[in-house]
Amino acid sequence: MARLWFSTVVLGTSLVASAAFAEQTGDVEKGKKIFSKCKACHQVGKSAKDRVGPHLNGVFGRAAAAHDGFAYSKSMKRAGADGLIWTAETLDAYIENPRALVSKTRMSFKGLKKPQDRADLLAYLRDFSDNPSDVPEAEPTAKGTDHDLDPAILALQGDPEYGEYLSSECMTCHQVDGSGDGIPSITQWPIEDFVVAMHAYKQKLRPHPVMQMMAGRLNDEEIAALAAYFKDLE
Ligand code: HEC
Ligand code: HEC
Repeated sequence: MARLWFSTVVLGTSLVASAAFAEQTGDVEKGKKIFSKCKACHQVGKSAKDRVGPHLNGVFGRAAAAHDGFAYSKSMKRAGADGLIWTAETLDAYIENPRALVSKTRMSFKGLKKPQDRADLLAYLRDFSDNPSDVPEAEPTAKGTDHDLDPAILALQGDPEYGEYLSSECMTCHQVDGSGDGIPSITQWPIEDFVVAMHAYKQKLRPHPVMQMMAGRLNDEEIAALAAYFKDLE
């Protein structure tokens, strides 16, 4: 029988991201089938071991990159250090589009686009938590959440000159050559990755408070302009 579950999520410390609230119902049996897409790299269950990716027992409630003994990417470690916690909502966003949450993640997976598939998968993964019952049963009416950006936002053509004008503020932290302690390089990124990353801060899916504030002040055109400018910056 299908089991349903429902979860509301408090991100990071005590920040409630109202715009990005996750409400999902999932079918465990269907989720088990969908997990076959992850199996090439991830195991779950009693004898689960790390493979290409870490095993996923107990991933709910854990910080990103916190499983001992697995060699995570730098990006994933930085996300964990910033306070990215795996909750129904952040897992949902990561599985939908891994790079939206962690730009240079080593997980090469293009993402599960259907909210219902992700909800089913998460319902299945939840059973491998230490305390699945901590994630309450669902309201049957709850719906999956789609974090995907509106295609119109992705299609915006940014004006690089306007981007240059806006960028001076960014350059106080982001060095063109990518040096700078804990501050990643943001030049020569594909436009879509840049836009998706900025919106993930804006939606508070990414945890970094300074970047949440920076992105929160920018509108869609400004983000597109910055993406266009930084893409070609040598
Ligand atoms: C091609 C291999 C591959 C596939 C397919 C894949 N992953 Fe991953 N996954 C990885 C790797 C590698 C990492 C570590 C990423 C890093 O360090 O940046 C990872 C990391 C993760 C993490 C973070 C774990 C942690 O401890 O922080 C989660 C959650 C995750 N994957 C879930 C999934 C799910 C669910 C699927 C299926 C929908 C999936 N992955 C498909 C390779 C894969
Ligand atoms: C006060 C310092 C500071 C300022 C100003 C700043 N950033 Fe950041 N930015 C950071 C830090 C620190 C990170 C790493 C955050 C993280 O780990 O999520 C970051 C991350 C990013 C990322 C994601 C990088 C990655 O590898 O995932 C992008 C894109 C970005 N910033 C763009 C901008 C833009 C555009 C501006 C200007 C509007 C800006 N930043 C202003 C400090 C800053």
